[in-house]
Amino acid sequence: MRTFNLSDYLLQYLDKASGTPRNRQLYRLMRQAILDRVLPADTRLPSSRDLATELAISRNTVLYAYEQLLAEGYVEARAGSGTYVADTVPDTVHLPTVATRRVAAIHETAHLSQRGHRLVAQAGAATQQWGAFVPGVPDVTQFPHKIWNTLQSKVWRKPPIAALTYGHGGGYQPLREVVAEYLKVSRSVDCEAGQVVITNGIHQSIDLCLRLLSDPGDVAWVEDPCYWGARNLLSASGVTIRPIKVDAEGICPSEADLAAVPRFIFVTPSHQYPLGMVMSLARRRSLLDYARRHGCWIIEDDYDSEFRYSGRPLASLQGMDSGERVLYMGTFSKTMFPGLRLGYLVLPQALSKPFVTGMEELHRSGQAPLQATMAEFMTQGHFNSHIRRMRLMYGARLEILQQEIDSHFEGTEVQAVGSDAGLHLALRLPARCDDKLIARLALERGVAVRPLSSYYHDASQGDSGLVLGYACVDDANIAPAFEILAKQIKAYL
Ligand SMILES: Cc1ncc(COP(=O)(O)O)c(C=O)c1O
Repeated sequence: MRTFNLSDYLLQYLDKASGTPRNRQLYRLMRQAILDRVLPADTRLPSSRDLATELAISRNTVLYAYEQLLAEGYVEARAGSGTYVADTVPDTVHLPTVATRRVAAIHETAHLSQRGHRLVAQAGAATQQWGAFVPGVPDVTQFPHKIWNTLQSKVWRKPPIAALTYGHGGGYQPLREVVAEYLKVSRSVDCEAGQVVITNGIHQSIDLCLRLLSDPGDVAWVEDPCYWGARNLLSASGVTIRPIKVDAEGICPSEADLAAVPRFIFVTPSHQYPLGMVMSLARRRSLLDYARRHGCWIIEDDYDSEFRYSGRPLASLQGMDSGERVLYMGTFSKTMFPGLRLGYLVLPQALSKPFVTGMEELHRSGQAPLQATMAEFMTQGHFNSHIRRMRLMYGARLEILQQEIDSHFEGTEVQAVGSDAGLHLALRLPARCDDKLIARLALERGVAVRPLSSYYHDASQGDSGLVLGYACVDDANIAPAFEILAKQIKAYL
């Protein structure tokens, strides 16, 4: 079992962006570790000077925490030999549940499998999911919740028994039908309702594909950089990831890559994530041809292409596939709201039935009342009008952000890319910029961005940049938030 490392634990949970002073946070985290006996009685604490150095905080901050613990009897000072955890733990103290869970989490990783360990260690989901400039989050305040409420109440007035028992693995049939229709018209996806499986989002769709089509050791090509969620799902399923470079035309396998045929090819053809380029027609053709000849499965993640601000909407890769090699997936997380947890997977005919069975066996399907509400929302035209309205709003926000970028960085090496679609753009920075540090400093000042290098397979070799989501930022907040970010970037220019 892994031994408890005090400074790793503190580094992980000290929250610099929190409004709670750091000395209080330190005291509470240490107290919790003592109460949970992960710091057992008689453990010698590091000297305040050493701990301050390890945590890169002031010695006074550590001294405050130690003194508080001393005053409350959690630790004791032994003359000449240091500070030790006391052997009596007050049992009347109420434990803050969050802190309890945090300590437990550190402990639990010791019991995890290798892949579980990997998953937790490389976890990508941010704790902050709202505000400037969280990538990939739509403006949920604009969701027409009154309409939704009316539709939902109607569904619940007299739900049929079939909606309240276990569903069958494909999802609520009218939703499968309306999704198939929508995809045919708006994304040129070639499908019938029977090929659509309703899932709780792209994450579940990828997971289902991996469970049903992969064996440990299979190889998957993954765009480099790519969405961290897809990478984590792949690595958790035991698939070997082969990062493939992208260029202006999308995924760009070398001769050596082509020579080692993968089982899966993960792509975001309509809007490469996170750089934003569109896969060229030539690249699409050769990828489909390669997959057909070698029997690879192409997984098309079409996560946000409803939002295009210039040019014509782009057709899906799936719609060009005559060889039944593409598994197409989309989500309502961006068009509706992420908390809805609804998405869809469109399968080649031959895989439809086994996938419905697989979904049923692995996850038991349900949520029929929710899916029925979604079907009504689409059938009555609310879905399309919501998208139209949000497209205008996001387009205007993108323009404001671009003006800000120009006014701060015109004529410099800082460049926005991938900004004609979606909910985010990438800001490329010169290599000398430490994007992780910039992101950390910006977060301390209330602005959340993701470092571009963290999307690469090997973050230490990744290009420097920042990924900025603008969809969930009020027009008026864009300039002040960008100003904060620009200041951090300019320190390097
Ligand atoms: C490229 C990409 N794919 C998938 C997802 C997640 O989709 P879902 O919420 O449907 O699981 C995201 C979320 O940001 C994304 O950026």
